[in-house]
Amino acid sequence: MKVLVATDKPFAAEAVSGIRNAVEKAGYELVLLEKYIEKQQLLDAVADADAAIIRSDIFDKEVLDAAKNMKIVVRAGAGFDNIDLDAATANNICVMNTPGQNANAVAELALGLAVYAVRNLYNGTSGTELMGKKLGIHAYGNVGRNVARVAKGFGMEVYAYDPFLSAEAIEKEGVKAVKSAEELYATCQFVSLHIPATAETKNSINYSLLSKMPKNALLINTARKEVINEAEIVKLMEERKDFKYVTDIMPGNNAEMAEKFASRYFSTPKKMGAQTAEANTNAGIAAANQIVDFIENGNEKFRVNKK
Ligand SMILES: NC(=O)c1ccc[n+]([C@@H]2O[C@H](COP(=O)([O-])OP(=O)(O)OC[C@H]3O[C@@H](n4cnc5c(N)ncnc54)[C@H](O)[C@@H]3O)[C@@H](O)[C@H]2O)c1
Repeated sequence: MKVLVATDKPFAAEAVSGIRNAVEKAGYELVLLEKYIEKQQLLDAVADADAAIIRSDIFDKEVLDAAKNMKIVVRAGAGFDNIDLDAATANNICVMNTPGQNANAVAELALGLAVYAVRNLYNGTSGTELMGKKLGIHAYGNVGRNVARVAKGFGMEVYAYDPFLSAEAIEKEGVKAVKSAEELYATCQFVSLHIPATAETKNSINYSLLSKMPKNALLINTARKEVINEAEIVKLMEERKDFKYVTDIMPGNNAEMAEKFASRYFSTPKKMGAQTAEANTNAGIAAANQIVDFIENGNEKFRVNKK
């Protein structure tokens, strides 16, 4: 069984050695194609591979059609729009991603942004603390759950809203479940966003919802920029001098926000939540383990394409 690691931007050495361990332990062979220049190199490499681990590498129809023995392709990471899912299905190839492997990295960044905000962007003035404050987690998925764990370490009181989970599932982790987004925002001085961008969530973080937040409110966004109603957050922050916003996804109106709300608005220059050595290593090793589990046991838990 040949497992190809095809990475235009290579994994760290530590990740490659973890992948190699998992692959060789199963009795498979690891083939590395790193920093390739020509597409032909990729076409040649996939020709006799049974499985592939990739990052942002493009696996289009041409590559998938050339992969005659390929049974599974795993994107080490969350997004998989670099893979032609229909072409994979047509070639009877299972495609997976590795969700959750970057969740701790994003959670640490979210709480780091919160500290930065309540200390007035480290501008030398006196700030406030997180301890004892109410934090609302909007969507209790992989990242939200990790934010809850870290926030409890800060001594925060943690609430969550997720319509796809039962209150019991949330409360067994020591987090208070609320019944609506409105209730979450009305209860919590701090809200951390972890919703996906869907038809329902796009533009849903708007004036009406945010204006329910208590005094000295802070919104933390490490989710998606599309979920924010950008014009309405400007209106709200113009009206409420006590409202702060920090984000890992630069909004379209970043220049306007930075100019108008200098000491209570911050955006990272580029999305960096998942950009840690550990997250990349975890995703690579998870990909290798998922390949072994698929080949040995037929486990398709993280499959993202149709059969
Ligand atoms: N900043 C970064 O670098 C970075 C990295 C990874 C993920 N993300 C983003 O973080 C967000 C969460 O990622 P994740 O890995 O936790 O995803 P996840 O799929 O594990 O969790 C998403 C959660 O959202 C819930 N949900 C769906 N629709 C909802 C709605 N309308 N209202 C409330 N909850 C809803 C789901 O039930 C699920 O629990 C996504 O938007 C993702 O794009 C950002």
